[in-house]
Amino acid sequence: MSQEEDKLLDHNYDGIQEFDNPMPTWWVGLFVFTIIWAVVYLFYFEITGMGDTQLDEYHNELAAAEKLYSVGDGAEGAVVEIALLTSADEIAEGEKIFKMNCSSCHGQAGEGGVGPNLGDSKWIHGGDFKSIVNTITHGVPEKGMISWEPILKTKKIVQVASYIDQKFRNTNPPNGKAPEGDEYQGE
Ligand code: HEC
Repeated sequence: MSQEEDKLLDHNYDGIQEFDNPMPTWWVGLFVFTIIWAVVYLFYFEITGMGDTQLDEYHNELAAAEKLYSVGDGAEGAVVEIALLTSADEIAEGEKIFKMNCSSCHGQAGEGGVGPNLGDSKWIHGGDFKSIVNTITHGVPEKGMISWEPILKTKKIVQVASYIDQKFRNTNPPNGKAPEGDEYQGE
């Protein structure tokens, strides 16, 4: 089969002799390739740090999740003021949060559904801004409104509450759920 000539080495151990046949070229090629690969790998991930190692990737994902879901406000001791936000950027953030987490129960336009109408002038748990933040933060678990404190950062709760305040309050969206609670027209 083999083209190569069998080369017999000239030692002899108790009558046992060895051939000196080279490894197949493809095998040697593969072996050399793994060595080169290891060197490149070492440089890329460990020495220059250009690539993210699995541990880096893990930390990145963790940081991203932390940003999205963490309790509190990340930085130790960071204080978020519970005050109405009115800038377009903050309201746009609030809209995103609402569409992702709240519209399934409160409707796209705040008209209500499982949850009460947020676009009327009646509020079960108080219609002033701080009460709205408070309802979102602590929820009304026995009525099907969960506490969002473990899920959304305070900042995000303030953003979504500002969105409700600025875009839904007293807009009377079509197909609105019947008003519930007490009238609130502002301070
Ligand atoms: C699973 C359904 C559900 C989801 C999701 C939900 N809610 Fe509610 N929400 C309710 C229900 C039910 C109530 C009414 C509680 C009650 O009757 O006391 C409520 C009440 C409220 C109130 C008080 C309304 C009032 O009249 O005082 C606000 C404000 C509110 N939700 C905001 C939000 C926000 C913001 C989100 C998303 C972060 C959200 N809700 C997600 C079901 C939901």
